[in-house]
Amino acid sequence: MQWNWKTIIEPFKIKSVEPLGFTEREERLKILEQAHYNLFNIKAEKILIDLLTDSGTSAMSARQWGGIMVGDESYAGASSYYNFENVVSDLTGYKEIIPVHQGRAAERILFSIIGGKGKRVISNSHFDTTRANVEASGAEAFDFPVKEAFDFDRYAPFKGNINLEAAEKFIKEKGSRSIPVCIMTVTNNSLGGQPVSMENLKQTRNLCRKYRIPLFLDCARFAENAYFIKMREKGYSTMPVTEIAREMFDCADGAMMSCKKDAFANIGGFIAMNNAGWAQKARQLLILTEGFQTYGGLAGRDLEAIAIGLGEVLDEKYLQYRIRAAQYLANSLLKNRIPVVVPPGGHGVYVNAKKFLPHIKSLQFPAQALAVELYLEGGIRGVEIGTLMFGKRDSAGNFIPANMELVRLAIPRRVYTQSHVDYVVEVFAELAKRKKSIKGLEIVEAPPVLTHFTVKLRPINAAGVGGRRKLKAELSD
Ligand code: F0G
Repeated sequence: MQWNWKTIIEPFKIKSVEPLGFTEREERLKILEQAHYNLFNIKAEKILIDLLTDSGTSAMSARQWGGIMVGDESYAGASSYYNFENVVSDLTGYKEIIPVHQGRAAERILFSIIGGKGKRVISNSHFDTTRANVEASGAEAFDFPVKEAFDFDRYAPFKGNINLEAAEKFIKEKGSRSIPVCIMTVTNNSLGGQPVSMENLKQTRNLCRKYRIPLFLDCARFAENAYFIKMREKGYSTMPVTEIAREMFDCADGAMMSCKKDAFANIGGFIAMNNAGWAQKARQLLILTEGFQTYGGLAGRDLEAIAIGLGEVLDEKYLQYRIRAAQYLANSLLKNRIPVVVPPGGHGVYVNAKKFLPHIKSLQFPAQALAVELYLEGGIRGVEIGTLMFGKRDSAGNFIPANMELVRLAIPRRVYTQSHVDYVVEVFAELAKRKKSIKGLEIVEAPPVLTHFTVKLRPINAAGVGGRRKLKAELSD
């Protein structure tokens, strides 16, 4: 059935529900203080609307829950593995299908094989765990985003593209032998969940072929990317999304997927490729730390749920609703003069805190300050994408301001309805009225790696001399 109504409805009905975590403002004030103004430290039951991530937070379908019951838990040769293998190889066209427990396990395995000292991995943008795993292998990670990706107010259809000229210049300078792989992240999570065009993917394939560099997709949100291609790229408007997805995979030599996103699974992932030599090495590493090659750290029931989810995500009515849900949130925020990155990405909306709170200096963490106020005002949890998340420091341990201060409102799949979204917008409208009163934050304690997960902060007006001394002492350790 073609859906031509203006109102895009949730294409599901709800069979099973969970209560939301209602709290009073007074309680939230205390919770924030106890959590050291770090939203990762708040118990989920104290969150009303949780927009921290779209990863592993999807609502599974009744069919997926049915799959959970029939999951085959045999150690070797489980039928659930073969269902999973068939679905992934039909989807991608790749021959070697290796299950893993989540995306970063795929990254660790791949870069243990092809990374290492002296190697350079290139990408449109590495996601943080991808970069961390490249670097953990001893290699270096280089991003080549297009310029318009940083122009948050300007509409461009494919801000997730790789800058081909810059990438080719780099390959020529460094020599292709030092580059074991090019990773295209679809959609580009680190830069607003923006899509990559088919044209850019094909040109990347040509560039990689010219220099004999294998091309891999980080395809956590491949279906959202494929749907953007259908909506925005010439020549694709009538092509089924399944075929568009296949064309994307055909451009590459392999893929890594966190199935916690576009497979509606709460856990899981895979590496898929045609290179039998790499696959053999990957399976050896898999057995060492993940599990036997027909379960890779997952239960049979998880494999079954992933196999079913990978089919469901390609339903175009679902994808239409999914992309429109992010657009609805973005447009409603814009109407209330809340600056957001445009166009919105597939899996969420990114609020430009630097623009919303221009009175807060970068080193007083405006995006974190906004995320904290959002929780205080309405029990909503988003995540800072800014100076704390990027965590760059100078030699004295002082933070270097990031070139963006965003709050990501990631939308879990099939979880919240339009009234939840309307509530989020209402809370933002309230914040907009008193935005001048919102103050920045300062560091109490900041560990050197993956700072944002464990950093301790406090409001700037609570700063005491002792606090500053403590910070200095810690940073100089
Ligand atoms: N690649 C991309 C593009 C991702 O967004 C993520 C995770 C991973 C790889 C790693 O996968 O979590 O299964 O190990 N992104 C989550 C997020 C954490 O909130 O965006 P994982």
